[in-house]
Amino acid sequence: MSSMSRFLIIVRLILLLSLDIGAAPAPALAPVPAARTEVDPELTAGFSEGDMIISAEQRNGLRSDNYRWPNRTVYYYINNNIDQPHREQILVGLRKIEASSCLTFQEVTQDQKYYVNITSEPGGCFTAVGFQNRVQQMNLESYPLDEGCYRMGTIMHEMLHALGFYHEQSSADRDEYVRIAFENIEEGKEHNFEKFDNDKVDNFDQEYDYGSVLHYSPYGFSKNGEMTIVPFKEGAEKQMGQRLQMSQWDINKLNMMYKCPQQV
Ligand SMILES: *[C@@H]1O[C@H](CO)[C@@H](O)[C@H](O)[C@H]1NC(C)=O
Ligand SMILES: *[C@@H]1O[C@H](CO)[C@@H](O)[C@H](O)[C@H]1NC(C)=O
Ligand SMILES: [Zn+2]
Repeated sequence: MSSMSRFLIIVRLILLLSLDIGAAPAPALAPVPAARTEVDPELTAGFSEGDMIISAEQRNGLRSDNYRWPNRTVYYYINNNIDQPHREQILVGLRKIEASSCLTFQEVTQDQKYYVNITSEPGGCFTAVGFQNRVQQMNLESYPLDEGCYRMGTIMHEMLHALGFYHEQSSADRDEYVRIAFENIEEGKEHNFEKFDNDKVDNFDQEYDYGSVLHYSPYGFSKNGEMTIVPFKEGAEKQMGQRLQMSQWDINKLNMMYKCPQQV
């Protein structure tokens, strides 16, 4: 990643944080939605495996209902500087999530107060995690179709973050399934390998899923080309980081999180 991109990410994080400070106090009962932004390693220098790279997350679903989109309806706005083919690609991703769940995606109308603002700026692929009850940005840096942030699985990966999921390897019990090889992680990127406590994230009774569209690639944020996430299950590294589609377990978890009346 260029130093310019890094700079932009930092600026953006600072902006997000300061926005948070200015926000109205949450109702007493509601845990304040943390404006946590997931930044994905797909595009960082140091590893590139064509279009079979990247991450993952799940079992890693935020427990609090405050992060769920009301009425299972996600409003979105696609910025005008995103051309028609890229727009279509995004919409196909959203339709695929719809087809696998009870969620509906709707383009914003003028009076909409909360929505996903889909941008295509430098800085990689990133988004706020879960419903934020305000305009929340999802960035898909411009890439040719089916590359980088415009891989179908990456579009769905980012939207799953916005729906309330962290990365699969953030699961509370991930250490039973993978070893995080901190010795191979780029300096300053260690925070991307956090795991969350069981009281914050929910596995929805699904198994650890190496093939989740929300799992990082084994080489995510590697500084030396060695694995940063080493699976205990033999051969699982071939599944990790797939960005083609949601796995069946991804779909199950999404349906459970949103209490879909009928499992799809
Ligand atoms: C909830 O979502 C459904 C399906 O998208 C829609 O028909 C209905 O009008 C929505 N209800 C409210 C209160 O927004
Ligand atoms: C979306 O976000 C970009 C970048 O922060 C901002 O420039 C733009 O005004 C936003 N658009 C909408 C409609 O929220
Ligand atoms: Zn991610």
